[in-house]
Amino acid sequence: MPSDPSTSPRRRRAAGSRILAREAQVRLPQPTPKRFYGHGIPGVRPETLSGKLVVIEGADGSGRSTQISRLVAWLESHGHGTVQVGLKRSTLVSEELENAQKGNILSRTTLSLFYATDFADQLENVILPALKAGFVVLADRYIYTLMARDLVRGMDEDWLRQLYGIALVPDVVFYMQVPPGTLVQRTFAKSRALDYWESGMDLGLSRDMFDSFLRYQQLLIEQFQRLRETYGFTIVDGGRSVDEISRELQQKIAAVLFGRRSPGGAPAVPFPHSQP
Ligand SMILES: Nc1ncnc2c1ncn2[C@@H]1O[C@H](COP(=O)(O)OP(=O)(O)O)[C@@H](O)[C@H]1O
Ligand SMILES: [Mg+2]
Repeated sequence: MPSDPSTSPRRRRAAGSRILAREAQVRLPQPTPKRFYGHGIPGVRPETLSGKLVVIEGADGSGRSTQISRLVAWLESHGHGTVQVGLKRSTLVSEELENAQKGNILSRTTLSLFYATDFADQLENVILPALKAGFVVLADRYIYTLMARDLVRGMDEDWLRQLYGIALVPDVVFYMQVPPGTLVQRTFAKSRALDYWESGMDLGLSRDMFDSFLRYQQLLIEQFQRLRETYGFTIVDGGRSVDEISRELQQKIAAVLFGRRSPGGAPAVPFPHSQP
Protein backbone atom coordinates (compact mmCIF):
# COMPACT_ATOMS: atom_id res chain seq x y z
CA MET A 1 0.00 0.00 0.00
CA PRO A 2 1.50 3.37 -0.94
CA SER A 3 2.43 5.47 2.10
CA ASP A 4 0.40 8.59 2.81
CA PRO A 5 2.51 11.42 1.29
CA SER A 6 1.41 13.81 4.04
CA THR A 7 3.11 11.61 6.65
CA SER A 8 6.27 10.72 4.69
CA PRO A 9 9.51 11.49 6.57
CA ARG A 10 10.50 14.11 3.98
CA ARG A 11 7.16 15.90 4.35
CA ARG A 12 7.39 15.76 8.14
CA ARG A 13 10.91 17.19 8.09
CA ALA A 14 9.80 19.96 5.73
CA ALA A 15 6.77 20.76 7.93
CA GLY A 16 9.00 20.76 11.02
CA SER A 17 11.44 23.23 9.53
CA ARG A 18 8.57 25.50 8.46
CA ILE A 19 7.30 25.55 12.05
CA LEU A 20 10.80 26.29 13.35
CA ALA A 21 11.20 29.10 10.83
CA ARG A 22 7.87 30.50 11.98
CA GLU A 23 8.87 30.21 15.64
CA ALA A 24 12.14 31.96 14.92
CA GLN A 25 10.10 34.89 13.63
CA VAL A 26 8.08 35.15 16.84
CA ARG A 27 9.73 37.90 18.77
CA LEU A 28 9.44 37.47 22.48
CA PRO A 29 8.20 40.47 24.46
CA GLN A 30 10.94 42.37 26.26
CA PRO A 31 10.45 42.31 30.03
CA THR A 32 9.69 45.70 31.55
CA PRO A 33 9.79 46.58 35.23
CA LYS A 34 6.37 46.21 36.83
CA ARG A 35 5.02 47.79 39.98
CA PHE A 36 1.81 48.17 41.89
CA TYR A 37 0.17 51.54 42.40
CA GLY A 38 0.28 51.10 46.16
CA HIS A 39 0.40 48.17 48.55
CA GLY A 40 -0.32 45.63 45.78
CA ILE A 41 -1.13 41.99 46.44
CA PRO A 42 0.80 40.38 49.31
CA GLY A 43 3.34 37.79 48.21
CA VAL A 44 3.40 38.86 44.55
CA ARG A 45 6.77 39.95 43.22
CA PRO A 46 6.16 42.30 40.27
CA GLU A 47 9.59 41.53 38.80
CA THR A 48 8.41 37.96 38.07
CA LEU A 49 5.65 39.18 35.76
CA SER A 50 7.04 38.84 32.25
CA GLY A 51 3.81 39.39 30.27
CA LYS A 52 2.25 42.70 29.28
CA LEU A 53 -0.86 44.38 30.58
CA VAL A 54 -2.67 46.44 27.95
CA VAL A 55 -5.74 48.40 29.05
CA ILE A 56 -8.42 49.82 26.76
CA GLU A 57 -10.62 52.39 28.46
CA GLY A 58 -13.55 54.27 27.01
CA ALA A 59 -17.31 54.75 27.28
CA ASP A 60 -19.94 52.25 26.15
CA GLY A 61 -19.93 52.31 22.36
CA SER A 62 -16.40 53.71 22.09
CA GLY A 63 -15.30 50.58 20.21
CA ARG A 64 -13.39 48.71 22.93
CA SER A 65 -14.80 45.25 22.11
CA THR A 66 -14.33 45.79 18.38
CA GLN A 67 -10.68 46.72 18.85
CA ILE A 68 -9.91 44.05 21.44
CA SER A 69 -11.18 41.24 19.22
CA ARG A 70 -8.96 42.55 16.40
CA LEU A 71 -5.98 42.83 18.75
CA VAL A 72 -6.45 39.25 19.93
CA ALA A 73 -6.40 37.99 16.32
CA TRP A 74 -3.39 40.16 15.50
CA LEU A 75 -1.37 39.25 18.60
CA GLU A 76 -2.13 35.53 18.36
CA SER A 77 -1.25 35.43 14.67
CA HIS A 78 2.17 36.74 15.73
CA GLY A 79 2.59 34.05 18.35
CA HIS A 80 1.58 35.97 21.49
CA GLY A 81 -0.86 34.24 23.82
CA THR A 82 -3.63 36.55 25.05
CA VAL A 83 -5.97 36.62 28.02
CA GLN A 84 -8.96 38.96 28.30
CA VAL A 85 -10.40 40.54 31.42
CA GLY A 86 -12.98 43.25 32.02
CA LEU A 87 -15.43 44.70 34.49
CA LYS A 88 -18.00 42.33 35.99
CA ARG A 89 -16.26 39.25 34.66
CA SER A 90 -15.00 37.63 37.88
CA THR A 91 -16.21 34.14 38.66
CA LEU A 92 -16.52 35.23 42.30
CA VAL A 93 -19.09 38.04 42.20
CA SER A 94 -20.06 39.01 38.63
CA GLU A 95 -23.48 37.32 38.83
CA GLU A 96 -24.31 38.76 42.24
CA LEU A 97 -23.15 42.19 41.10
CA GLU A 98 -25.41 42.00 38.05
CA ASN A 99 -28.38 41.02 40.23
CA ALA A 100 -27.65 43.73 42.78
CA GLN A 101 -27.55 46.33 40.01
CA LYS A 102 -30.83 45.12 38.52
CA GLY A 103 -32.50 45.61 41.88
CA ASN A 104 -30.66 48.93 42.48
CA ILE A 105 -30.29 47.86 46.11
CA LEU A 106 -26.73 48.87 46.94
CA SER A 107 -25.45 52.13 48.38
CA ARG A 108 -22.66 53.95 46.53
CA THR A 109 -20.05 52.57 48.90
CA THR A 110 -21.21 48.96 48.74
CA LEU A 111 -21.54 49.09 44.94
CA SER A 112 -18.04 50.52 44.74
CA LEU A 113 -16.67 47.77 46.99
CA PHE A 114 -18.54 45.15 44.97
CA TYR A 115 -16.79 46.35 41.81
CA ALA A 116 -13.48 46.46 43.68
CA THR A 117 -14.01 42.82 44.73
CA ASP A 118 -14.76 41.86 41.12
CA PHE A 119 -11.53 43.61 40.09
CA ALA A 120 -9.41 42.10 42.89
CA ASP A 121 -10.64 38.58 42.08
CA GLN A 122 -9.65 38.94 38.42
CA LEU A 123 -6.34 40.55 39.38
CA GLU A 124 -5.34 37.70 41.69
CA ASN A 125 -6.76 34.80 39.73
CA VAL A 126 -6.44 35.83 36.10
CA ILE A 127 -4.27 38.90 35.46
CA LEU A 128 -1.27 38.14 37.68
CA PRO A 129 -1.02 34.39 36.80
CA ALA A 130 -1.33 35.21 33.07
CA LEU A 131 1.38 37.88 33.31
CA LYS A 132 3.60 35.47 35.20
CA ALA A 133 3.19 32.98 32.34
CA GLY A 134 4.14 35.65 29.78
CA PHE A 135 0.71 36.34 28.25
CA VAL A 136 -0.48 39.64 26.87
CA VAL A 137 -3.45 40.54 29.07
CA LEU A 138 -6.03 42.75 27.35
CA ALA A 139 -8.22 44.55 29.87
CA ASP A 140 -11.55 45.89 28.62
CA ARG A 141 -11.56 48.74 31.19
CA TYR A 142 -9.58 48.82 34.42
CA ILE A 143 -9.58 50.75 37.70
CA TYR A 144 -9.89 54.13 35.93
CA THR A 145 -13.52 53.62 34.85
CA LEU A 146 -14.34 52.47 38.38
CA MET A 147 -12.66 55.53 39.85
CA ALA A 148 -14.25 57.95 37.35
CA ARG A 149 -17.73 56.54 38.02
CA ASP A 150 -17.22 56.86 41.78
CA LEU A 151 -15.73 60.36 41.54
CA VAL A 152 -18.76 61.53 39.56
CA ARG A 153 -20.85 60.19 42.46
CA GLY A 154 -18.86 62.21 44.99
CA MET A 155 -16.74 59.45 46.50
CA ASP A 156 -13.50 60.45 48.21
CA GLU A 157 -10.50 60.43 45.86
CA ASP A 158 -7.94 59.42 48.51
CA TRP A 159 -10.13 56.52 49.61
CA LEU A 160 -10.32 55.34 45.98
CA ARG A 161 -6.56 55.63 45.56
CA GLN A 162 -6.01 53.56 48.68
CA LEU A 163 -8.54 50.97 47.52
CA TYR A 164 -6.99 50.62 44.08
CA GLY A 165 -3.46 50.59 45.48
CA ILE A 166 -3.83 46.82 44.92
CA ALA A 167 -3.76 47.37 41.14
CA LEU A 168 -0.79 46.68 38.93
CA VAL A 169 0.43 49.60 36.81
CA PRO A 170 -0.36 48.57 33.20
CA ASP A 171 2.25 48.67 30.44
CA VAL A 172 -0.03 50.93 28.45
CA VAL A 173 -3.51 52.45 28.86
CA PHE A 174 -5.47 53.57 25.81
CA TYR A 175 -8.45 55.85 26.25
CA MET A 176 -10.86 55.73 23.31
CA GLN A 177 -12.18 59.23 22.94
CA VAL A 178 -15.52 59.50 21.17
CA PRO A 179 -17.97 62.43 21.45
CA PRO A 180 -21.09 61.53 23.52
CA GLY A 181 -23.39 62.19 20.52
CA THR A 182 -21.54 59.57 18.45
CA LEU A 183 -21.69 57.13 21.39
CA VAL A 184 -25.48 57.45 21.47
CA GLN A 185 -25.75 56.84 17.72
CA ARG A 186 -23.54 53.76 17.90
CA THR A 187 -25.29 52.35 20.96
CA PHE A 188 -28.73 52.80 19.38
CA ALA A 189 -27.55 51.24 16.13
CA LYS A 190 -26.23 48.25 18.09
CA SER A 191 -28.84 47.59 20.76
CA ARG A 192 -31.68 50.12 20.23
CA ALA A 193 -31.52 51.05 23.92
CA LEU A 194 -29.37 52.94 26.40
CA ASP A 195 -28.20 51.23 29.57
CA TYR A 196 -29.57 52.57 32.91
CA TRP A 197 -26.15 52.70 34.61
CA GLU A 198 -24.21 53.89 31.55
CA SER A 199 -26.73 56.74 31.38
CA GLY A 200 -26.12 57.62 35.03
CA MET A 201 -29.85 57.38 35.75
CA ASP A 202 -29.11 56.72 39.46
CA LEU A 203 -27.75 60.28 39.70
CA GLY A 204 -31.05 61.96 38.82
CA LEU A 205 -29.41 64.25 36.25
CA SER A 206 -32.50 64.13 34.05
CA ARG A 207 -35.64 62.02 33.77
CA ASP A 208 -34.96 61.62 30.09
CA MET A 209 -32.48 58.78 29.60
CA PHE A 210 -31.06 60.25 26.41
CA ASP A 211 -30.40 63.61 28.08
CA SER A 212 -29.04 61.88 31.19
CA PHE A 213 -26.67 59.76 29.05
CA LEU A 214 -25.19 62.88 27.41
CA ARG A 215 -24.74 64.70 30.73
CA TYR A 216 -23.33 61.67 32.53
CA GLN A 217 -20.84 60.87 29.75
CA GLN A 218 -19.68 64.49 29.84
CA LEU A 219 -19.09 64.24 33.62
CA LEU A 220 -17.11 61.03 33.09
CA ILE A 221 -15.00 62.68 30.38
CA GLU A 222 -14.12 65.47 32.84
CA GLN A 223 -13.06 62.91 35.47
CA PHE A 224 -11.01 60.99 32.91
CA GLN A 225 -9.25 64.22 31.96
CA ARG A 226 -8.29 64.70 35.62
CA LEU A 227 -7.23 61.07 36.05
CA ARG A 228 -5.12 61.31 32.91
CA GLU A 229 -2.79 63.79 34.60
CA THR A 230 -1.95 61.19 37.23
CA TYR A 231 -2.12 57.98 35.24
CA GLY A 232 -0.87 59.03 31.78
CA PHE A 233 -3.39 57.55 29.33
CA THR A 234 -2.69 57.44 25.62
CA ILE A 235 -5.64 59.18 24.01
CA VAL A 236 -6.94 57.45 20.89
CA ASP A 237 -9.31 59.27 18.53
CA GLY A 238 -12.09 56.68 18.47
CA GLY A 239 -14.15 58.64 15.97
CA ARG A 240 -12.08 57.34 13.04
CA SER A 241 -12.58 54.16 11.03
CA VAL A 242 -12.11 50.79 12.75
CA ASP A 243 -9.09 50.08 10.52
CA GLU A 244 -7.35 53.36 11.27
CA ILE A 245 -7.77 52.85 15.02
CA SER A 246 -6.53 49.23 14.77
CA ARG A 247 -3.41 50.37 12.94
CA GLU A 248 -2.60 52.95 15.61
CA LEU A 249 -3.19 50.46 18.45
CA GLN A 250 -1.04 47.80 16.78
CA GLN A 251 1.79 50.24 16.24
CA LYS A 252 1.73 51.41 19.85
CA ILE A 253 1.37 47.92 21.31
CA ALA A 254 4.28 46.66 19.20
CA ALA A 255 6.37 49.46 20.70
CA VAL A 256 5.34 48.35 24.19
CA LEU A 257 6.02 44.65 23.50
CA PHE A 258 9.45 45.22 22.08
CA GLY A 259 10.73 47.63 24.62
CA ARG A 260 10.27 51.00 22.97
CA ARG A 261 8.39 52.92 25.61
CA SER A 262 5.05 54.27 24.37
CA PRO A 263 4.42 57.90 25.32
CA GLY A 264 1.29 56.84 27.20
CA GLY A 265 2.78 53.87 29.02
CA ALA A 266 3.10 53.60 32.76
CA PRO A 267 2.74 57.07 34.22
CA ALA A 268 5.77 59.28 34.38
CA VAL A 269 4.26 61.02 37.41
CA PRO A 270 4.57 58.87 40.54
CA PHE A 271 1.32 57.68 42.04
CA PRO A 272 0.36 60.37 44.56
CA HIS A 273 0.11 58.28 47.67
CA SER A 274 3.55 56.77 47.08
CA GLN A 275 4.95 60.26 47.50
CA PRO A 276 6.15 61.25 50.95
N1 LIG B 1 -14.55 53.13 14.74
C1 LIG B 1 -15.85 52.85 14.65
N2 LIG B 1 -16.63 53.51 13.77
C2 LIG B 1 -17.96 53.25 13.68
N3 LIG B 1 -18.60 52.31 14.41
C3 LIG B 1 -17.88 51.60 15.28
C4 LIG B 1 -16.47 51.82 15.46
N4 LIG B 1 -16.02 50.99 16.41
C5 LIG B 1 -17.08 50.27 16.82
N5 LIG B 1 -18.20 50.61 16.13
C6 LIG B 1 -19.56 50.07 16.31
O1 LIG B 1 -20.10 50.69 17.47
C7 LIG B 1 -20.81 49.73 18.25
C8 LIG B 1 -20.17 49.66 19.64
O2 LIG B 1 -18.87 49.11 19.48
P1 LIG B 1 -18.24 48.16 20.60
O3 LIG B 1 -16.93 47.70 20.09
O4 LIG B 1 -19.22 47.12 21.01
O5 LIG B 1 -18.04 49.24 21.76
P2 LIG B 1 -17.78 49.04 23.33
O6 LIG B 1 -17.25 47.67 23.54
O7 LIG B 1 -16.80 50.10 23.67
O8 LIG B 1 -19.09 49.28 23.99
C9 LIG B 1 -20.77 48.42 17.48
O9 LIG B 1 -21.97 48.28 16.75
C10 LIG B 1 -19.57 48.58 16.57
O10 LIG B 1 -19.73 47.85 15.39
MG1 LIG C 1 -17.92 46.05 24.73
